[in-house]
Amino acid sequence: MTDSTRFPSNFVWGVATSAFQIEGGADADGKGPSIWDTFSRNSANIIDHSNGDIACDHYHRYRDDVALMASLGVDAYRFSLAWARVQPTGKGAWNEAGFDFYERLLDALDEKNIRAHLTLYHWDLPQGLQDGGGWLSRDTAHRFADYAHEVARRFGKRVDAIATHNEPWCTANLGYGNAQFAPGVADKKQAIQVSHHLLLSHGLAMQSMRAAAPTAELGIVLNQWTADPATSSAADRRLADLEWANSIEWFMDPIFKGRYPELSLQAHGADAPVVHEGDFAIIGQPLDFLGVNYYRREVMSAEVPPRKPEGGMGFTDMGWEIYPQGLTELLLKLKEEYPSLPPVYITENGMAAVDVLEDGKVADAVRIEYVRTHLEALKAAMDQGIDVRGYFLWSLMDNFEWNSGYAKRFGIVHVDYATLERTPKDSALWYRDFIAGQRQRK
Ligand code: NOJ
Repeated sequence: MTDSTRFPSNFVWGVATSAFQIEGGADADGKGPSIWDTFSRNSANIIDHSNGDIACDHYHRYRDDVALMASLGVDAYRFSLAWARVQPTGKGAWNEAGFDFYERLLDALDEKNIRAHLTLYHWDLPQGLQDGGGWLSRDTAHRFADYAHEVARRFGKRVDAIATHNEPWCTANLGYGNAQFAPGVADKKQAIQVSHHLLLSHGLAMQSMRAAAPTAELGIVLNQWTADPATSSAADRRLADLEWANSIEWFMDPIFKGRYPELSLQAHGADAPVVHEGDFAIIGQPLDFLGVNYYRREVMSAEVPPRKPEGGMGFTDMGWEIYPQGLTELLLKLKEEYPSLPPVYITENGMAAVDVLEDGKVADAVRIEYVRTHLEALKAAMDQGIDVRGYFLWSLMDNFEWNSGYAKRFGIVHVDYATLERTPKDSALWYRDFIAGQRQRK
């Protein structure tokens, strides 16, 4: 093992999933509908016309899935709670049967010594709240804080970490900006207001959870990338700066600097969000960690049609450029812009590939190379002073890739959707051996 792959002995190795993408059990035991149930049951919204009713049936197979994780030797599992499972309409009564499911899951993880990193919101808003205005309504932020408090009260001592939101950029921009995601709205002004309410809900939830979960690390998970100009032209550089402001600073500045980035406010003009006095003080609660989901960089081009990234290392099945060094650059840039950056977890990293199951094997060498090179890039950032505490591979298993349905496979474990049988891909075995190699040195 070389220095470039020698991680600290207490580094957390994990895998990640989210509730809607794997659980199924859409109506089980009193669960209410979420906006993703509604959205995906309209088959026109999903490329392969599938929905999340069954997904990987993890709701009934969680024990086997935890055993699978244990066989890979991971330290930790990052997963989300389906809000509508524990509070069917998003306000009022709690559904004990829903909480019981997560109790059983936590028991199963405990038995295998796998630590839990929980996410409160991975996009599946209770439909009841959507009917009352969803994230466009400021009141939803307060409902979220109530939900966060209850989860922290019940599970705070049982989990290592709780993240409020997963990728609020997506909730706002894909859910409200271009209608690719639930609830399927395409209105830029609404998307911007939603992003503010998401940030507000994050701050309110941090406040409501602090006393209730004194031992868990609390934070937020943001999807982040670097924005490189396609050429050195002034127009491309301007676009890259704007992209960085709109996507990264838009969520980081309110948390770490108590304001929105000026460049974005100018660009948004009359679409800028309504911000109440005191909102930034709420949003700026100290974080125990920042979760970073990194998949790719953006290359910004003012030409028509825009220049495409060169993609020297190829592209994934999502069409995303494979660009590991962007992870090093991103982390260094974050630290430079936000000197008080808290410890970081890479809460997601991985790739979709065209995987073929043959004779009980999936030879996904490309995915192994993707993970290996991203781990090297991560280590390079750590060697330059970035405090990173763990890495969660997305994803434990193939699952419902939102508007792509089941057609895009991100798992290190293959799922046969006809039988729901799980088969570890070569990448799972590689990850298992990699983690074991790290342990030998402990
Ligand atoms: C980020 C999201 O959090 C996750 O739900 C999704 O499946 C992956 N990216 C891959 O697109």
